Amino acid sequence: MIRLGVNIDHVATLRQARRTDYPNLPEAAALCEKAGAHGITIHLREDRRHIQDADVYALRKTITTRMNLEMANHPDIVAVALDVKPEEVCMVPERRQELTTEGGLDVAGQRDTLAPVVAALRAAGITVSLFIDPDARQVEAAAAIGAPTIELHTGAYADHTGAVRTQELARLTDAAQRAHALGLTVNAGHGLSLENVDPILAIPHLDTLNIGHSIVCRALFVGIEQATREMLDKLQRHP
Ligand code: PXP
Repeated sequence: MIRLGVNIDHVATLRQARRTDYPNLPEAAALCEKAGAHGITIHLREDRRHIQDADVYALRKTITTRMNLEMANHPDIVAVALDVKPEEVCMVPERRQELTTEGGLDVAGQRDTLAPVVAALRAAGITVSLFIDPDARQVEAAAAIGAPTIELHTGAYADHTGAVRTQELARLTDAAQRAHALGLTVNAGHGLSLENVDPILAIPHLDTLNIGHSIVCRALFVGIEQATREMLDKLQRHP
């Protein structure tokens, strides 16, 4: 079965909207895990718009599955990762003005700055994943700098319909096949929902889908445990 990492950033977004101490992140993570989530994903952004440093440390103590920490290649954030030692780090590009992570990492263009950080994180026992567009050059660069895992950016797939969506699905499939042939673990995520995830489940070699916004939105109506369960049901029903 394809595994599910639930991204709970937007539980923190709700809290930060009023700078309250609720909703409680460890409680949200625990309910996702109770529903059967295989991991919890959080993104410690440079601008700290949702997840705060204290959340990372608090969740490190309470998560019982796997913590996947998304982060940019910024020295202060890398230092937090090396201190907290999550099971996994997913390196993402980051721009201050963006609403969410808008494109994949340019691994091919940033080999020299990424390679030492990937090595340092791996030396600390952390699995390193690189968030990339479904592009052969980026897949090959990820393998070349020693990342064991990639996460394929499904945003373009999610944002389009019709022929463009079909084309994006083909790109994702090709990238997954190429990555698998190079010995990489293949994850995917961004913009996935109950409505659009089915075709994604047919991509070969998928290990984990990281899904956040749609699950947290659905949770407003049915609760986060049920929202997680509904997505897991989808993943389970796929052969
Ligand atoms: N994967 C990565 C690398 C991301 O940056 C995000 C968004 O934080 C997600 C997955 C989850 O995307 P969404 O919230 O659209 O499900």
